[in-house]
Amino acid sequence: MLYTRIPFVALFATALVACQSEAPSGTTSQPIAGTDEVTMDHHSNARPVEAVITHLDLDVQVDMENQKIFGKAGYAIDVHQGTGIILDTDGLVIEKVTDKSGSALAYNLGDSTMLGRALRIDLRPETKYIIVHYATGRKAKALQWLSPQQTADKKYPFLFTQGEAILSRSWIPIQDSPGIRFTYAAKVKVPHELMAVMSASNAQERSLDGVYTFELDKPVPAYLIALAVGDIEFRAIDERTGVYGEHSVVDRAAWEFADMGKMVKVAESLYGPYRWGRYDVIVLPPSFPFGGMENPCLTFATPTIIAGDRSLTALIAHELAHSWSGNLVTNATWNDFWLNEGFTVYFEGRISEALYGADYAGMLAQLGRQDLVATLDQIAHGAHPEDSKLRLDLKGRNPDDGMTDVAYEKGASFMRLLEEKVGRPKFDAFLRDYFDRFAFQSMTTDKFLAHLEEHLINPNHIELNVEEWVDGVGLPDNAPVPLSDRFAKVDQEVQRWSKGTAAKELAAKEWSAFEWMHFLRHLPEGLSDAQMHELDAAFGFTKSANSEILAAWFEQSIRNDYDPAFAEMDVFLNTVGRRKFLVPLYKEMLRTEKGRLMAQTIYNSARPNYHSVSVHTIDDILAWKDDHPPVNF
Ligand code: BES
Ligand code: ZN
Repeated sequence: MLYTRIPFVALFATALVACQSEAPSGTTSQPIAGTDEVTMDHHSNARPVEAVITHLDLDVQVDMENQKIFGKAGYAIDVHQGTGIILDTDGLVIEKVTDKSGSALAYNLGDSTMLGRALRIDLRPETKYIIVHYATGRKAKALQWLSPQQTADKKYPFLFTQGEAILSRSWIPIQDSPGIRFTYAAKVKVPHELMAVMSASNAQERSLDGVYTFELDKPVPAYLIALAVGDIEFRAIDERTGVYGEHSVVDRAAWEFADMGKMVKVAESLYGPYRWGRYDVIVLPPSFPFGGMENPCLTFATPTIIAGDRSLTALIAHELAHSWSGNLVTNATWNDFWLNEGFTVYFEGRISEALYGADYAGMLAQLGRQDLVATLDQIAHGAHPEDSKLRLDLKGRNPDDGMTDVAYEKGASFMRLLEEKVGRPKFDAFLRDYFDRFAFQSMTTDKFLAHLEEHLINPNHIELNVEEWVDGVGLPDNAPVPLSDRFAKVDQEVQRWSKGTAAKELAAKEWSAFEWMHFLRHLPEGLSDAQMHELDAAFGFTKSANSEILAAWFEQSIRNDYDPAFAEMDVFLNTVGRRKFLVPLYKEMLRTEKGRLMAQTIYNSARPNYHSVSVHTIDDILAWKDDHPPVNF
């Protein structure tokens, strides 16, 4: 057995609380200690040393027709010093602020900056609870309102939110800093023909009146509050896991993600109990800008991972892993983003290895390394070469612009190096203890490094260039090199094909999606029309049902001006809003004049289908005329 080290009872001891409707367990919010440069969050107007939110009560209505959320947000607060509290807002219309008894409190909205507008509320000495009455603005960045046409079933509108990194403030007035945690409860009213779900306890059945209530009794930062509203239903996978999705999607999703329960068990056997009660996934319409988002209890996922053969479900392992690295122990600021994502990619690899074997995990790691090498090259030649450090300095910038594969893959590489140095048993024990010790707290890079030194480096007498890893650019020489025999075989087939073997003669019968991705990424340069045709005829790339294969093929199609793929690519780019797919395709088109025109034409029609996160990035890419293309994952 792969996971026998932990007594079985321990796995379930603290589970089954958070995502079920129970009374809140109180307030354990951890204000960031001090306001020095390291712990200071430059992406929030909140001043946690003065006052913090400890609990949020949301009571809102969702107006699908007018694309507006309105209602009130009540907050239990802890005042440490001073006479006010500052919340983040972005584009919100504030109607009034009161205390619990309804008596008005004075407030003012600061100037509008990249961070939105600071809402400063004056407090009376006895005020412990405040209520903000508000409505969202016209272009709330977190929200994507979809017409029926933009959904899978095409019958009803859909709404979803995306909070990370600093978008929650555009639909809730909130202290929007990953270092500030609070519990929350919500009452959400939606049109009765729709269902609402959140990153909390969720109903599995429709309510008759369109009112849904939620509870998350574990403190989380604002970026993890999420809501989706649509004509969705639930399918159980096992007692603890299940999927939500539109009618035409939900059964396919339940089949695709059949291993979710096993993933949770494996994760628990590695790093301790899953502390959030249920683990469910909602499959969103295809415009969702990410592959997945680790909203507590309920991962939000793109439908593009439903390939029909379970080949892309590592993404679920990734989002699940965030239930420890990210949601339990959280990056204190966006400069510490690698503590969320680097740990999670490492953890994702471990879950994948346990369930699908070392071969599978090896391919995953190699694909990640390929992405990293490409990203590092772009960053080195870009406007912010310092973005290749693990510890970022995003002050004054939109944090989203500095969040690249570096945090993910260089971060994971550092973790693998640590594992290599002390051996797996010691490293696992270290991580398990880390998640327990710092559960429901935020973590800075400095605090992690001090802990690492004391609990792993010193006791094991290892030599390590930690500073080079964390504060140096590029990838240090001692980065472990992921190897994959399976990819070596793919390389051989690429060779054979370039030397004249017919495509349909290649030994590709047993290839997984990962092998196809590797194949497509390593085709020789400058392919002729005839060669592209031959590949397409042999392997049906243009019609592939696998989004990763399709996207890699479209990239080659642009590069080699392979016309027959463009109609499908047009459809793809007009439907799918997942930024990871959009960025390479638009960038590739911009390399030629013909391509630039094509990019402009496609984007003109596709832009209204994208979430603000993707719009922001693609706007930047299309506006890019110098040598510094923006880099995003
Ligand atoms: N937390 C991220 C998504 C995110 C990152 C949103 C930064 C906003 C800002 C999520 O866990 C993630 O990493 N998603 C990846 C999937 C993964 C398998 C690498 C994605 O969306 O592609
Ligand atoms: Zn992630």
